[in-house]
Amino acid sequence: MVLQKINNRRNSQRTPRGADSRNTATAAGGNSDDPIQTAETSMPKVKMNSETVLITGASSGIGLELAKLFAASGSRLILVARNESKLTELKQQLVNQHSAHTDVIVMDLSKVDAAEKLRDEIYRRKLRVDVLVNNAGFGELGKFAEIPIERQVDMIRLNVVTVAHLTRLLLPEMLKYRQGGILNVASIAAFLPGPNMAIYYATKAFVLSFSDALHEELIDTDLKVTCLCPGPTKTGFAADSGMESTTLFEAGAMDAAEVAKIGYESFRKNQSVVVIGFKNKLLAFLTRLTPRFIARKMVKRVQPGEDREGNNIA
Ligand SMILES: NC(=O)c1ccc[n+]([C@@H]2O[C@H](COP(=O)([O-])OP(=O)(O)OC[C@H]3O[C@@H](n4cnc5c(N)ncnc54)[C@H](OP(=O)(O)O)[C@@H]3O)[C@@H](O)[C@H]2O)c1
Repeated sequence: MVLQKINNRRNSQRTPRGADSRNTATAAGGNSDDPIQTAETSMPKVKMNSETVLITGASSGIGLELAKLFAASGSRLILVARNESKLTELKQQLVNQHSAHTDVIVMDLSKVDAAEKLRDEIYRRKLRVDVLVNNAGFGELGKFAEIPIERQVDMIRLNVVTVAHLTRLLLPEMLKYRQGGILNVASIAAFLPGPNMAIYYATKAFVLSFSDALHEELIDTDLKVTCLCPGPTKTGFAADSGMESTTLFEAGAMDAAEVAKIGYESFRKNQSVVVIGFKNKLLAFLTRLTPRFIARKMVKRVQPGEDREGNNIA
């Protein structure tokens, strides 16, 4: 009964496209400056807010951990990735633990028209996005001339084109509703040239530059823009990119939950660029002092190993 009331209230907070979310928040009885409101029930208090968060690459790793954090803060979620069963399992977990209203959209975001298709699906479901988390991404260890070009083009589409296109499609409405923002997941790789992983590093350099520029463009609006730059993190990324045996990962990787928590908190504070972990912070700082011809040699040293064919790429 009480849960039903909570759900009714949640549904009544779901603002259809065209309605004003800020009015909705005020009507719900909360302070419109404070996105987090609490349902008055006799049950343990369920936090709610009026924002909907779209997370790309929510089926595992950092994206999955970010989904848990946004759900715990009372946000509604739109989870996007290719693996339907993993997304459905996460949805069930978020519903059980946080009563989070959660939509699952199964989509390959490396396809040419992925951003438009995703926007159309969001509108078809009468959803609205307040926070866009551009997290989906992958890398591939190996020499540029040897990695299949299809894989590298997919990487550019997923890590760069979809990030920019989706942001461009959703931003005008976000500006209209004046809440939320954009959390982009780049990498410590964004600060360096990346021999043996040239395209991946270049895509992340794009994300960092794009994000930092947007942060400044939107500084006088109510929107936040944060670029999260993790170092090696324990997720599916290392196996997917063929990096498990590199010095970089063998030297120790951070927990995805820890990385997500720092990213989430930094986004709430509207920090423009967040490098995670002492070693990575030091590295990012040193890149400012190190000539590029030295930087690229350093990177080549820390990520030798074998590519998928077993070729030593030192
Ligand atoms: N782990 C690290 O060491 C590290 C370090 C720095 C930056 N990052 C960045 O962190 C972000 C998240 O990666 P992660 O470490 O959490 O790795 P992960 O566990 O492999 O997660 C990657 C996510 O992206 C999704 N994805 C991959 N290809 C996709 C596609 N074509 N269409 C839609 N979704 C796709 C995956 O879902 P499906 O397979 O279900 O589609 C998965 O949910 C990436 O942008 C990565 O570059 C990772």
